[in-house]
Amino acid sequence: MNRLTFPDGFLWGTASSAYQTEGDNANSQWWEFERQRGAIWHGDRSGLACDWWRNAEQDFDRIQALGLSSHRLSVEWSRIEPRPGEFDHAALDRYRAMLGGLRDRGIKPMVAFHHFSDPRWFARRGGWESPDAPTRFQYFVRTTANALRDLCDFWLTFNEPLIGLGQSYFQGKWPPQKRDPVAAIKVFRHMLLAHARAYRALHVVQSNAYVGYAKAVRLFKGVRPQSQPDRYAAGLKRYLFEHIWFTATVDGRIRPPVGVGDYNHELADSFDFIGVNYYSRDLVRFSPNPLSLFGTEEYAAYGEFSDAGPDGPYSEYHPKGLYQICKELEVFGKPIYITENGLPDADDDQRPRWILGHLHQLHRAIVAGCDVRGYYHWTLVDNFEWTEGWTPRFGLIEMNHATQARRPRPSAAMYGEIARTDAITPSLVERYAPEMRAIIFE
Ligand code: BGC
Repeated sequence: MNRLTFPDGFLWGTASSAYQTEGDNANSQWWEFERQRGAIWHGDRSGLACDWWRNAEQDFDRIQALGLSSHRLSVEWSRIEPRPGEFDHAALDRYRAMLGGLRDRGIKPMVAFHHFSDPRWFARRGGWESPDAPTRFQYFVRTTANALRDLCDFWLTFNEPLIGLGQSYFQGKWPPQKRDPVAAIKVFRHMLLAHARAYRALHVVQSNAYVGYAKAVRLFKGVRPQSQPDRYAAGLKRYLFEHIWFTATVDGRIRPPVGVGDYNHELADSFDFIGVNYYSRDLVRFSPNPLSLFGTEEYAAYGEFSDAGPDGPYSEYHPKGLYQICKELEVFGKPIYITENGLPDADDDQRPRWILGHLHQLHRAIVAGCDVRGYYHWTLVDNFEWTEGWTPRFGLIEMNHATQARRPRPSAAMYGEIARTDAITPSLVERYAPEMRAIIFE
C-alpha cells in the first residue's frame, strides 16, 4: 500500500465544548464550582476561556485555513435558558451567527446539547437526580433546535453521559461532588430518558435531523490476563459504563441496576449514528471495594504516555483500541463517527505520531468494512480542561490563555494536509513522524 485513502465525503473535524471555549459562562454550575478552594488545579479559572463567545470566528478562520470540513461544538444550556422557562434570544442569535459563520466557511457544524455543564437553577433543583430533568432538558432542546434548525441538522444529545456521572457521583470530583451510588443510578436513568425525549423532539422539529450521542468508549481489560477476578471486574465496568447505555438505546430496555429490564418506547432505536470518544484503554485490577465497582484502574507500566503521565485517564497510547471498538460497534448497524480523539502534549512531540497511529487503525477498520464517516480531533485550540484547568494542552493550536495569543503546533499543518487530500501519504509520514513509516506502510 503506498497511501491510505479515506472515503469520499469523510468528515475531518475538530471538537470543542461551550464551557471550555466560550468564556464567562457565569450561569453554569461549573462557574460556581470553580470558585471553591481546591476545586481546580492551581486555582485556575475558565475566565474568558478561548473567548469564543465574543470571537469564535477568528478560530473558525483557522479551521477553514486548515481545510477541515466539519467542527463539533456544544450549545450552553445555562446561557440559552438562564432561568427556568426563560429563553435568551440574544444568546440564540449568537449561536445562529456562529453556526452561520461555520457554514459560510464551508465547515459543517455538529452540535451537542449537553457537554457536562448545567444551568445553576437546574443544579439547585436537584440537577439530573430530579425526576423532571428529562422533561426540562427536552424543552431546552426543542426550543433551541427550533431556533437553529435552518443552520444545522447534525446533533448530539449528550456528550459522555457516563463520564460526567462517574466524576460527579462516584469519584466525587465534579459538581455536585457526591459519592452516592443510589443517586448515580437515578441520574443514569434520567439521562437515558432525557436522551430519548431529546431524540424524539429533534425528529419532530426537523424531518431531516440526524441525531446521535457521543459515548466515551474505553477498553476495559483485566490487568493480569490469568486473573478471573480482574476479568470480571473489567467486564462489570464495561457492562455499567457501556453496555447498559448502548443496549437501552437499541432495544428500549433499561437493564439492572438502572432499571429492571423495563421497556421505554421512546428509547428504542433512538440514535441515527454512533459517536465514539476514544482516548485510551483501562487495565482493571479486582478490588473488594464496592465504591470502586470492584476494580481499580491501572495503566500499563511499559506503555507510552501523554503529558498526563501514567495516572491520567486519557493517557496511554493504544491506537489498536480504535480498530477494535469500531469492529465491536458494527453490530449496531449504524454509521460511526469518531467524535473525539486526542492527547495533552504541550510540545507536540507525540501528537503527529499519535494522530497517524489512530488514523491508521481507523483506516484498517474502514477497509475491514466498518462504516466510519468522520473523525474529530480533540481539540482545535488549548482550552479549559475541567478540574485540571489550563494544565493539559490538547490543542492543535497552542494558546496562551492570559494573552489569548495562538500559535499552531506542527500537527495542525499535518492534520490539515490529511484533511485536504483525504489521505496519508509516505511523504507526509516522512515529514512528521518517519518512525511510523514501517508501521503504516508495512
Ligand atoms: C471530554 C472533553 C475533555 C476531553 C479531554 C472528553 O472526555 O468530552 O470535554 O476536554 O475528553 O479530557
